Order: sequence, then structure tokens, then C-alpha cells
Amino acid sequence: MRFKVFKVIVLVISIFVGVGAYVGGTAMLIEPNGSFLRMEALLPYFQVLPFADVLFQNYIFPGIALIIVNGISNTIASILMLRNKRIGYVLGTVFGFTLMLWIIIQFMIFPMNALDIIYFTLGVLQLLTGYIALVSYNQAFFKFDENDYREINKESKTLVIYFSRKKFTKRIAYEIANKEKATIKELITKERTEGDLGFWWCGRFGMHAWPMETEPLDINLNAYSKIILVTPIWVFKMCSPMRDFINKNKDILKQKEVCVVFNHFNPWLPKGAIKEITKSISIKEVQSFTTMLGHTFKKR
Ligand SMILES: Cc1cc2nc3c(=O)[nH]c(=O)nc-3n(C[C@H](O)[C@H](O)[C@H](O)COP(=O)(O)O)c2cc1C
Repeated sequence: MRFKVFKVIVLVISIFVGVGAYVGGTAMLIEPNGSFLRMEALLPYFQVLPFADVLFQNYIFPGIALIIVNGISNTIASILMLRNKRIGYVLGTVFGFTLMLWIIIQFMIFPMNALDIIYFTLGVLQLLTGYIALVSYNQAFFKFDENDYREINKESKTLVIYFSRKKFTKRIAYEIANKEKATIKELITKERTEGDLGFWWCGRFGMHAWPMETEPLDINLNAYSKIILVTPIWVFKMCSPMRDFINKNKDILKQKEVCVVFNHFNPWLPKGAIKEITKSISIKEVQSFTTMLGHTFKKR
């Protein structure tokens, strides 16, 4: 739903800006003195720009630049978004930024006017809605199939325990479990974690560093020698369901070889996340991954 709403908004802005650029650019080329748009009086303001004696003696170069930078660019982005290609949302976002830069130049050379303010606002909106559509696209079309991991549950001494809202951490957990031939278990909570409301609810738990009640796991932890905990970062710490699991099982975990794997959005792992866990159990190894726009990179 969020993806569809923001797709429509960024698409409408891109088409509007693109069509406006064609109309304005064509009008400049039809009457290079600017009379079609009643912009003759603005030409002297261009003379502060570099190479003004060659490029800005009439509206031919500004017209061509407008058509290319804001017209053709937004047409390409719109077509790609209509075909639901990921790159379309990337370009939609980038061209929002381009429009902002274009208008910043106009802010610097022209007297303040309503049209520039409106177009700058459109640039900001295109950038923001494009970015939200891109993030939502990555979430909506994220590919993950448990059946691709065929080595899981083959070696019984290693256990991977994970929590995941959107499957990004789940994919990391499955990759590790597959490599280790380990048993894998998901932490389940009855609290609301799904959707946008779930995000805010989890944020509340994260901000207070509260544990989030999880259902008992139907396994005997004593049967494993190595336990790998895979958790997303929530508000600079481990996620609240993992906090609940560690709180409830710290006595057993103290006797095991425990590795912790963090997954986060920011490019760095907050040190406080490791510190919190080492207050109750010791950790043999820490790994960290950054998941940004649907792509996961190993950080440590
Ligand atoms: C409530 C909440 C708080 C978050 N806080 C942080 C944070 O402080 N730093 C960070 O880098 N990522 C933060 N994230 C982003 C997640 O760690 C990241 O999106 C991760 O990939 C989520 O994995 P999952 O979708 O498998 O649950 C937060 C996510 C949520 C839901």
C-alpha cells in the first residue's frame, strides 16, 4: 500500500516536472529572446554565470539544457517507474535532487519569485517520495525462499536463533545456518511488529531498551554447543525480542560458545549494542552487516 501511494506521487511529480520542462524549453527555442514566456527582462541576470558571453546571450542554451536536464531525464525515470523497474525509483529520487540544484542556481541569480519556490518544493517532494518509493519497492519485491537453503539442520551441534520483521535479518540468519549446517529457530512475539504501526511500536520498545515477550522455543538449548544469535539493531541496541531471549536464557548461554550477528541500516555497528549483551553473557565472535536499500554488505 505504502509503495503504491508513493509510486503514484513520485510519478505524478516526475511527469509534471518533465512536461513543464518540455513546454518551457520549447517556448525558449521558438522565441530565443524569451518573449514567448515574457522572460526578456530576466536575460541580464544570467550574465553572472560562467561562459555567459557564449551561452546566455539568448534562451537557446537554457532551453536545450532545460529539456535535457529536467525533461528527458524525468521522462526516462517516469517510463521506468511505469514499467516498475527499480532503477526508475533511483532516477526519480536523483532527478528530484537535480531539480533542487537547478532552482538553487535560480535562487542565486534571479530575484525571489513564487515559481522558483514552487519548483524547489516539488524537487524536495520528488526526492523524498522517490526515496520512500525506492525503500518500499525493495521491501515489497524482496526475494527470499527458505527452500534455497538445503544444508540447514544437517549438523545438530550449532543453533542459529534470529528475529526479523522484514526478512532482511532472516536472510542473513539462513545464510549463516546454511554455511554452518545448523538448526535454525525464529523468535516469535505476540506484540505488533508488522507494517508501519509495527515499526513505531518496535521503536517504542527499542527506545526504552525493553525486552519484548517471545514465545518459548520448542527446542532444548542444552543440546547445542554453539549458539549464533542474529538480531537487527533497534535504536542502537539489539532488537527487543532478542533481549527477551537473552534475559530468559542467560544461564544456559553462559555455558555455550555464543556468536552474535547484528544487522543494521547505518554503515556502522553501535558499540553499545555489543556492550549491552556482554553485561549478561560472553560473546566469542561478533559479526555485523549493513542492509541498505535491500542490499546487504558484511561490515565485520
Ligand atoms: C524500531 C527500529 C529501530 C531501528 N533502529 C536502528 C538504528 O538505531 N540503527 C540502524 O542502523 N538501524 C536501525 N533500524 C533498522 C534495522 O536494523 C534494519 O532495517 C534491519 O535491516 C531490519 O532487519 P529486519 O527487517 O530483518 O527486521 C531500526 C529498525 C527498527 C524496526
